[in-house]
Amino acid sequence: MQLISDFSLKNYNTFGIDAKARQFVAVHSLDELREVLEQHRLENKFILGGGSNMLLTKDIDALVIHVDFKGKQVLRQDDDYVLVESQAGESWHEFVLWTISQDFGGLENMSLIPGNVGTTPIQNIGAYGAEIKDTFVSCDAMHIETQQMRTFTKDECEFGYRESVFKNAEKNNYIITSVVFRLTRRDHKINTGYGDIIKQLASKNIVNPGLREVSDAVIAIRQSKLPDPKELGNSGSFFKNPIVPIETYEKAKANYPEIPHYVVSETQVKVPAGWLIEQAGFKGKRFGDAGVHKNQALVLVNYGNATGAQILELAKMVQDAVFEKFGIEIEAEVNVV
Ligand code: EPU
Repeated sequence: MQLISDFSLKNYNTFGIDAKARQFVAVHSLDELREVLEQHRLENKFILGGGSNMLLTKDIDALVIHVDFKGKQVLRQDDDYVLVESQAGESWHEFVLWTISQDFGGLENMSLIPGNVGTTPIQNIGAYGAEIKDTFVSCDAMHIETQQMRTFTKDECEFGYRESVFKNAEKNNYIITSVVFRLTRRDHKINTGYGDIIKQLASKNIVNPGLREVSDAVIAIRQSKLPDPKELGNSGSFFKNPIVPIETYEKAKANYPEIPHYVVSETQVKVPAGWLIEQAGFKGKRFGDAGVHKNQALVLVNYGNATGAQILELAKMVQDAVFEKFGIEIEAEVNVV
């Protein structure tokens, strides 16, 4: 375990922002994590997982702790279900592919989401009609101040749309160290109802898809819309899809009758922010090295040397333009640091 001063985080955030950490350390076990926390009790600390959901707008004047625990295992199984546990530092997508290779069902619609397993509960990641709360059982976490371990049940995580207790009441208090999921071993609940999955499967003449086919379809769709962070820095959806009162939606609809929406409750609807941003004229726009992706307007990209501040400036421009046109506020989904 080695502490490095003045460490560039460019390779540790998928936006590829060249911000520096005052000090940086990678920890590979609970013991190492405990030791670092004990020895640096009084310092500011910043916890870094896969760096796939953050925008670094400045250097980090703190000890950056990169959680790099590896390992996954079957805890228990019967004929119908299996409990699998993954350590926090495993790549999410590799973990998903492993579950599919074991014929464990439930995560296939969330293939190819960048990031590490340990950060998935923080924002209850989701895609194509699935969210991790659907299969999540519990996660273990270490309290940063006391180093006590605690198991959070699903209820205690208070999951919502891209939300959890780790973004709210317990923000910055815990480091998630491992996560347990309950997956199916038979009678998999294949879910192809969302977005273009059926269309993608039909193009391959697949009628009764298994887990692997659904995963392959999701991968193909994501690859066609979302930039690969290895090629073009990005953090997935930069904004959340806004949930607004029906009256707000109706007002916008009076001027823009084709505005899409999904019903959330009797009083609220969700509007796709990608549509709003595209209509506001930003899809594919580039300002220096900061841009709005050409295939999915919800994604902001770094063409190479954009600073976090430049990306944030673009985000604000987009937010203002959407509000001016539709009277709808869109809020960042990524963590702006
Ligand atoms: N749309 C446009 N223009 C665009 C993008 C989208 O008009 O540039 C329209 C589409 O035509 C469609 C609607 O907006 O009618 C929704 O688009 P899409 O299905 O691509 O999904 P999304 O709502 O934009 C959400 C998640 C993604 C997830 C996809 C698929 C959020 C913030 N984003 O995007 O998650 O992959 O659904 O399930 O909920 C992420 O969180 O990082 C992420 C990529």
